[in-house]
Formats: sequence, structure tokens, C-alpha cells
Amino acid sequence: MKNKKFLWGVATSAFQLEGSPAADWATWDRALKNRPEAADHYRLYREDLLLLKKLGVNAYRFSIEWSRIEPEEGRWDEAAVGHYRQIADTLAASGIEPMLTIHHFTHPAWFTKKYAWHTEESISRFLSFARKIIPRFKDVRYWVTFNEPYVLLLGGYIEGCMPPGVKDVRLAARALENILICHAGAYDLIHENNPSAMVSVAHNMAAVAPWRAWNPADRLVARAATRFYNHSLIDAFMSGVLVVRFPFKRAVEIPLPIKGKLDFFGVNYYTRVHMRCNPFKKMGVELRHRDIGGKGLTDMGWEIHPEGIRKVLSYASKLKVPIIITENGMATHDDRRKSEFLKLHIDELRRCIADGMDIRGYFYWSLMDNYEWAHGFDSRFGLYRVDFNTFKRMPTMAAEFYSNVIRSCGTSLRQGERN
Ligand code: FCB
Repeated sequence: MKNKKFLWGVATSAFQLEGSPAADWATWDRALKNRPEAADHYRLYREDLLLLKKLGVNAYRFSIEWSRIEPEEGRWDEAAVGHYRQIADTLAASGIEPMLTIHHFTHPAWFTKKYAWHTEESISRFLSFARKIIPRFKDVRYWVTFNEPYVLLLGGYIEGCMPPGVKDVRLAARALENILICHAGAYDLIHENNPSAMVSVAHNMAAVAPWRAWNPADRLVARAATRFYNHSLIDAFMSGVLVVRFPFKRAVEIPLPIKGKLDFFGVNYYTRVHMRCNPFKKMGVELRHRDIGGKGLTDMGWEIHPEGIRKVLSYASKLKVPIIITENGMATHDDRRKSEFLKLHIDELRRCIADGMDIRGYFYWSLMDNYEWAHGFDSRFGLYRVDFNTFKRMPTMAAEFYSNVIRSCGTSLRQGERN
């Protein structure tokens, strides 16, 4: 990476801030019935982008909403493309580095209904969207093709709690294969349009521990979960083969055209999970969050475990590409705890860099409160508080805290300046 400046950013996704009437999620979740515009960012984006300047970030991760751009199959809405173009232009005018996510969980409703990821046609449908959009953002350097492919997979194809709401492991494998083929296609397209582009996925990685450390079955389950959830995608980027290994089962190997198709690696890190073997649960596995480290749980019940970020980053370092924390954050109504969360994680990152890890950026999730999928509107991740009745934005103490961090140690996290 030529550009060595450390990226201090915040991350958002279009649907969570703007909603979209033509998206699959729009009818999936009843919470959106009364509030389809989410935080009304589609209308208020100009004011919202001014907050980035106030914060003092030098980077902003946002996504484009496919269902606004192609609300019906093959019908392109130029005004919607223009909307996202204006976001990129505003960032450029403010000297803020954009990081553009092409796919962040949502799809046009027609895509999910007619195709969805397990069908072969999903590849041509997605790539036709990618071909439409990528040349319009040639000036964007940082790209995330897919946000959290494994979350999409577990939610959409195993748990069935996200569209398309399927519960079928075989279809899940096919869906993952198609998504990663699309990553490879989008990677090539982006590079054709911008040879110095930096492209990745944003991979959700969690620290994983056995529920009962003394129990060999729990340890086995925790190890298998780590291998699959955290490591298998990283290994596939290195080898070109996705290997799925479950205890007492034959490994499944899926060849994929993704070897080396990565210019940096995006890691979304939030928490640690504890796992145990439980034959009465799906796939024999039960998961929960426990406050083992004494740092407490977030409003969503997730354990605050800053040390875990080192574990996941040290595995990601195997890729030998720069790493960017594309998401890290906490849902809480308590600003003081949010600031403390930021401090603990940034301190840990600083130590990781001092130990030689090539970490080039940190994006807090999220700029402002938004629609948190199945959790609705009350998971307050924002540096800015949103009143969802008036759509008024108010800075939290954590916004000030983050600004101060950026101002005071702006360059000290930089690679090469670690001594
Ligand atoms: C991540 C998602 C993001 C947001 C945060 C809290 O898994 O990428 O959209 O919901 O969790």
C-alpha cells in the first residue's frame, strides 16, 4: 500500500441509515413498517456528512444500496446512483477517504425472490450490478465487496433469520461459493477501473472460547468454530480452496477463484463467544456471551473483550496484506462505557502494531444510531445519538472522546512509526 496514512474512520451501511422500499429487508422486518426511512439519512445525508468533519475522521466507510439502484430487475435508477455519487463527491471535497461497500446484507426484493445466492444466476445478476456501479466510482480507492459473507450465510441459510430465510446447509455451501465467485469478479472489475485500488471483504471475526474450559467436548466445538468461522475464509484467500471441517465429518473442499484477490484485509471485531457441545441444539452447538473478563456486556449482551482483537488479527496477519479494522463498536445508552470501549480497543491495537502487525486503519461502528437488523432501533452504536421521532442528531460524549483520540495520537498508530 503506497498510502501509509493511518485511516481513522467510522463505518455505516446504507440500508441501516436510509432503509429502502425495494429491499428484501423492507418487508422482512416489521420494525421497519413504522420507520421505513430508518434514520432518514437518504434525505439528511448532507448534514450527516458534516458530522465527519466535526469528528475529524480522515476516512468513511459507507455502502451503496443495490435495491435503490436496481429496484426492478434490469431497471436502473440514475438518481439513486447520483445520490451515492454525491456522497463520494462530498467526501472528496472534504479530503475524507471513502471506503465503499458494494454489498452489506440487503438485496433488491426481486433478487431474493427469484434467485438468491444459492442459484447460479445470482452470479450474473450481482456482476451486472457491479459492472454498472464500479466504473462510476473509479476515483474510490478502498472497496469492500461483501460485508461479512459468513454472517449473511449463517443468518440467511442456516439460522434462517435473514433473507432469504433458508435453513439448508447444502444450499448454504452453494451460496457461499457464489458469493466468493462474485468477490473475485468484482475484485477484477475494480482493478480494471482503478489499478491502485485496495479491495477486500469485511470478515466478521470473533474471539471464541469453550463454555467450560475443562470440558473436552466444549473445547472441540470451540476449536471447530474458530476454524470455520474465523479461519476458513482467510485460508481460502491463501490457497484458493475453502475447506470446511466439522468434528467427526469428512472435510468438504470447495475450490474458489479467490486466491490472492485481496489488497488489504477488513476485519469486523466486536466480541468473544463461549461455545459448548449440546446435542439438543442445531448442529450440536450452543453459544452464549459471558462476562468472564469483568468488562461487562453491551446492551445487546455481547461480551466486551478487547484482548480478543489481538487473537483474530494475529491469524489475519498470515495473509501478509495490510489489515484494516472495518468495524468495531458497542451498543449502549451509556456514553462513558462507549468511550471506555473505544479506549480499550484502540490501546490493544496500538500494542498489536508495536508487536509488528501491519494494521492501517480503524473504523468505529457507527457514525450514528441506526437500524440494527433484527434488534430494531434500540441498539445504540452511534457516536451521534438519533432521536427516531424527530430525526435530530446529538453528539455523545464518545464522539468527543474519539475526536480527541484522533487528534492526539493521529499518527502514532502508523506503521513505521511504532517506535
Ligand atoms: C455487524 C454488521 C453491521 C452492524 C454491526 C453491529 O455484524 O456488519 O451491519 O449490524 O454488526
